[in-house]
Amino acid sequence: MAFKICVIGCGNMSTNGHGPAIQKYAALHADVELTACCDLDPEKAQRYQRTFGFAGSYTDWRLMLSQEKPDAVCLIVPVEATAGLAIAIMQMGFPLIMEKPPALTAARCAEMMEVARRTKQSNQVAFNRRYTPLMQKLRRELAAHGRIDSLRYDFFRVRRRDPDFSTTAIHGIDAVRFLCGSDFAQVAFHYHPIADTGRVNIYMEGTMQSGTVVSLAFCPMTGVNVERATVIVHDHTYYLHMPMLKGIDAGGRLLHLHKDTIISDETAGEEPMFISNGFYHENAAFFDALRAGVKPENDLATALQSVELAEYMRLRKAHYPEVAS
Ligand SMILES: NC(=O)c1ccc[n+]([C@@H]2O[C@H](COP(=O)([O-])OP(=O)(O)OC[C@H]3O[C@@H](n4cnc5c(N)ncnc54)[C@H](O)[C@@H]3O)[C@@H](O)[C@H]2O)c1
Repeated sequence: MAFKICVIGCGNMSTNGHGPAIQKYAALHADVELTACCDLDPEKAQRYQRTFGFAGSYTDWRLMLSQEKPDAVCLIVPVEATAGLAIAIMQMGFPLIMEKPPALTAARCAEMMEVARRTKQSNQVAFNRRYTPLMQKLRRELAAHGRIDSLRYDFFRVRRRDPDFSTTAIHGIDAVRFLCGSDFAQVAFHYHPIADTGRVNIYMEGTMQSGTVVSLAFCPMTGVNVERATVIVHDHTYYLHMPMLKGIDAGGRLLHLHKDTIISDETAGEEPMFISNGFYHENAAFFDALRAGVKPENDLATALQSVELAEYMRLRKAHYPEVAS
């Protein structure tokens, strides 16, 4: 029996990250059928269908799901649309992987978790950093140490004027939770205006429940597009330069030093971005879990604290958890 995949949303991230990943998964698994894709814009849907080899295309996702009855749905629509569509898709009886953030508020994310529980639908949030091979390698090494003293995560962008940067910054928040294998215990937020722009740099200083001291810097208007982590464990330092779509860290790098000696120095090499950035592995993990009849690892429940902290950031709160004034 074929394993049928449908995609909803054929825009930028879908075309650059998910489309090539899903196409590769189908090429490696003979029973996988790229059944149909859907976008409100018929030209985008048809172009996506041709580019990645889907059998059909639609402009109405409800019609697509009721006609095609897929085994897995990939939801890659604008942030404001994700929660409502995800709830409706689960209520129609289909498992889904959805782009981040699954919701704009923790309350909405909890509502989605409740729908998933009631409808018994498998789900996964597409935090691609959790599936980036260099990030996964660092996480394994840190887990072997058993404890992390401190972690700094710099999240710099160029000319990002988004009124709400939290829906992008959530990647950095989530990456810190992922690397530490722990939730945030407490954080102070600082918002520093960027002169004449109406925008802010956002700094988070805190501790994880594991005891690790963390420091995060989200700067949307800098000279460079990078995401870099510096991790210190007694006598060891790790520098992770996340692979980025373009720019000075395109290939990514993971450097491990011990007492001032280089222990290892790796890059993602020539891997295409949809692999080095985690898109292939996140989609494959979701499809593999469904095919094996097991619960996907990175479901809505695992996203909840990241959504909550992004919400704090959007609301310009000063402290997590909130402290009584
Ligand atoms: N993982 C990452 O690194 C990363 C980076 C950027 C964006 N994203 C996420 O990807 C998602 C999409 O962002 P994007 O930049 O690709 O946006 P986009 O606007 O380029 O694409 C979204 C597409 O969804 C379509 N769409 C909207 N409502 C629809 C509906 N009801 N039915 C069918 N199609 C519908 C739009 O027509 C559009 O083509 C967002 O959730 C965003 O947060 C993730």
